[in-house]
Amino acid sequence: MREIKENGMHKDKIIIAIDGYSSSGKSTMARSLAAEIGYRYIDSGAMYRAVTLYAIRHNLITPDGSVDKLSLNNSLNDIKIDFKVTDGKQLTVLNGEIVEGEIRRMEVSNLVSIIAAIPEVRHDLVAKQQELGKEKGIVMDGRDIGTTVFPDAEMKIFVDASPETRATRRYKELSDKGIATTYEEVLANVVKRDHLDRTREESPLRCADDAIKIDNSNMTPVEQNNLLLDLFNKLTGSSDSNN
Ligand code: DC
Repeated sequence: MREIKENGMHKDKIIIAIDGYSSSGKSTMARSLAAEIGYRYIDSGAMYRAVTLYAIRHNLITPDGSVDKLSLNNSLNDIKIDFKVTDGKQLTVLNGEIVEGEIRRMEVSNLVSIIAAIPEVRHDLVAKQQELGKEKGIVMDGRDIGTTVFPDAEMKIFVDASPETRATRRYKELSDKGIATTYEEVLANVVKRDHLDRTREESPLRCADDAIKIDNSNMTPVEQNNLLLDLFNKLTGSSDSNN
């Protein structure tokens, strides 16, 4: 493997877009890669979740998914989303409050695809995400990072795994956190979100033409990390030789 680091940071920073289905493991892959190469990691899904939490708290969405779009769109300027790193963990901050635990609850998971389908919400968050990537040196994961947010990203990955594999992982994750749910509920949520994410009009989930597809159903985390790191090394290594 080529030596690609210089003082812990690569000379020519790039943008890495990692898209894929919910609970495909893309966040874990993105986070590990970012830590390994000294890049900033941004979980764009957390931003949609934070807007959803705001909407729930302000009664702008009902449990059955009816949204007061006008009020929500008028509130977008009041929704400040930041990320704070503590003990190597990235925490989502909504208007000054750490909401990392809150945004992972099923109540938010069940409503987030509805909020994420609203064009004004997407425009607002895409602009924020593009701002975060201005300096490059970033790994961002989501659904439309390689297609809409950073169509010129130098490295694009699309991660997939079967709905059952993803539901099993998500169920374990939630159970480990002590969040009460059933496998059936999680699987239904995964399938429903896949459908909503794929079929919404505004930047639906799809694999960018120039993305590398990875099905990680049968891959260990170490294998996934090595694969991404090899790709990164190849990409940045070839850009080195052009300089
Ligand atoms: O990755 P996640 O499950 O935390 O994402 C939460 C929701 O946000 C998901 O249902 C789809 C949506 N999302 C999106 O539409 N675009 C993104 N770039 C990231 C997430």
